[in-house]
Amino acid sequence: MSHEKVETNLGLMVILIVLTISVGGLVEIVPLFFMKSTTEPVAGLKPYTALQLEGRDIYVREGCYVCHSQMIRPFRAETERYGHYSVAGEFVYDHPFQWGSKRTGPDLHRVGGRYSDDWHRVHLINPRDVVPESNMPGFPWLEENRLDGKLTADKMNALSLLGVPYTDADKAGAADAVKGKTEMEALIAYLQSLGTSIKTRR
Ligand code: HEC
Repeated sequence: MSHEKVETNLGLMVILIVLTISVGGLVEIVPLFFMKSTTEPVAGLKPYTALQLEGRDIYVREGCYVCHSQMIRPFRAETERYGHYSVAGEFVYDHPFQWGSKRTGPDLHRVGGRYSDDWHRVHLINPRDVVPESNMPGFPWLEENRLDGKLTADKMNALSLLGVPYTDADKAGAADAVKGKTEMEALIAYLQSLGTSIKTRR
């Protein structure tokens, strides 16, 4: 088949382009589904506790991902600032992951343990009380709203179907573990868990 034939026939060109991209895509993407480094949890990775799980849903509800990524890239400028770059095995229990694509604020993947619970509380109620130049909005209602835990076990059941290793005991105790806690407590528990499975933080 001559080049001229392909280049002067739009239909043929479209078909050949689709074919080329499909094969290229499959060769690049499919092996990732079978590679240990992308599908196996890193050593020490634990499923979110009931309270952390509820906090994660609040993170999603409040749209924190709109301003914060959770994906540290393997560049010096990032690892110096945030710590060890993110690896795929850390997100195996995240459905859906919170990588984000916008950094109005700093990356949060290794924020766990960096500040005290009290710092987070003050910061989330009114960020300017601790970071005067901050343009992050306050979330004061998190301190008022309480969780009832009615859906926590169902959420764990759903995640189990996707391969998160929750035990029956986890599910049985889920409602009691979150009932009466504030949304603030749940969100902070989630933030404090972030990125703590890799111990090489600077
Ligand atoms: C409109 C954008 C925006 C939204 C929405 C937002 N943030 Fe922020 N966040 C920022 C900015 C900017 C900073 C840096 C200044 C500061 O520390 O307040 C920041 C800082 C932070 C920090 C401190 C990070 C560090 O390493 O110092 C945490 C923790 C945080 N945000 C959590 C949250 C959570 C949780 C939510 C959702 C409830 C949220 N943010 C929503 C913009 C945002």
